[in-house]
Amino acid sequence: MAALEWSDEFSVGIDLIDKQHKLLIRAINLLAMAVEHNSSRDIMKEIFRTLRDYTDTHFAYEELLFDRFGYPDSVKHKLQHKNLLGQVIDLEQRWLAGDAEIGSEVLTFLVEWLRNHILGSDKAYSAFLITALKNG
Ligand SMILES: [Fe+2]
Ligand SMILES: [Fe+2]
Repeated sequence: MAALEWSDEFSVGIDLIDKQHKLLIRAINLLAMAVEHNSSRDIMKEIFRTLRDYTDTHFAYEELLFDRFGYPDSVKHKLQHKNLLGQVIDLEQRWLAGDAEIGSEVLTFLVEWLRNHILGSDKAYSAFLITALKNG
């Protein structure tokens, strides 16, 4: 069962970023599926690592565009990225250490984390970056 489904309301109008967001959604859905099917620890580990890597790469890409085009809200946005990535890393480490279970609470947290960030802060840069990318 998909925890989160892509729809056009998530689009920021920039293809590569939409693709990255779809990959993040897929990674969270994979984690949800792994939990649902009681997948092995190795598989869970791999999915967690993928989620963390995708998150890291994706945030770095958005920040590269912010710096390149002087996005005015970049300080606040970067701070949100830092906190979000920190939460994923923290969750991963607590799970690896056996201090955290991945259940519906954690999955809901991840789904909301991604949904709110895309629909809030990411949509907010959409018009600015589309114009900036168009003008070179
Ligand atoms: Fe994003
Ligand atoms: Fe972002």
